[in-house]
Amino acid sequence: MDKPSVFVTRRWPEIAEKELKKYFNVTLNHGDKALSNRELKDAFYNHDALAPTVSDTIDENIIKSGKSGKGKIISNYGVGFSHIDLEACQKYKIKVTNTPNVLTDATADLTILLMLMVSRRSKEGEYQINNNLWPGWSPTHLLGSELTNKTLGILGLGRIGQAVAKRAYFGFNMKIKFFNRTKKNINFSFKAEQVDNIYDLCKSSDFLTIHCPGGNKNKHLIDQDVLDAMKKTAFLINTARGDIICENSLFEALKNNSIAGAGLDVFENEPEINPKFLKAQNLTMLPHLGSATKETRNAMGLKVIDNLRKFFDTGDVIDPVPLVK
Ligand code: DGY
Repeated sequence: MDKPSVFVTRRWPEIAEKELKKYFNVTLNHGDKALSNRELKDAFYNHDALAPTVSDTIDENIIKSGKSGKGKIISNYGVGFSHIDLEACQKYKIKVTNTPNVLTDATADLTILLMLMVSRRSKEGEYQINNNLWPGWSPTHLLGSELTNKTLGILGLGRIGQAVAKRAYFGFNMKIKFFNRTKKNINFSFKAEQVDNIYDLCKSSDFLTIHCPGGNKNKHLIDQDVLDAMKKTAFLINTARGDIICENSLFEALKNNSIAGAGLDVFENEPEINPKFLKAQNLTMLPHLGSATKETRNAMGLKVIDNLRKFFDTGDVIDPVPLVK
């Protein structure tokens, strides 16, 4: 019997691509550039499975096209799925899977990295070194703030939020507070206090880190009111999705020093960066590197493969994305 066909929208690490080819007829995007809507429509029409990433917008047109051709399943290379129209997948009975767990540690590490970078002013320090501007050591040179003994506010205590909490609690003795839409009654290995709303979280946090999903439900959840509720000395960190923050409001808050700084790994219109952001000294930015380690990117590929193999063997999957809201 012919192997099922899989279209992979962006290049994966070599080990994962090799493994995929053992079980499937694979079409790769050799140019590794984001594909157009037309190209994605054709791809899903002509293949049993589509393996997209966060850099693809999978809208109803693409899903409908798959349904009218060979398309049966979308196996996302990544944990977040707000770039996929799940209502359309529901309507056309297309299964969707993602890659939870395997990127939790890498993303939590990068969250701590951003907390340290922005609070210890690493951007300004590196700028001085690179531009031969370092005036030499002095007791008041580029003073930052410490993580140790501070309060970390976590917006969304899912897998990644919990991994950040552990690092902050055990590594930096931070006090953990969190806000989650649903009540969390988990026995954590760390002490954590659940607060009733986002404003209470802002009022008491020295660092506020975002770990909720993106998409319509949380679009611009961090708006001017929320930013106003933060302490003037606090830092905002986002390694989740860019659209959760209203970028213009954040820019104003940074410009007026109504918060101390921000560390962002994700942006509303990736890969475009709001031009205003380039002027902000108290903003540290990374280009969506949360899961970008060799170990994790291989593991993400292997997870897509496991889901696809199970689907084509049994009709079931390991990591279903729930379609009903
Ligand atoms: C994800 O998995 O959702 C990341 O943002 C991309 O790796």
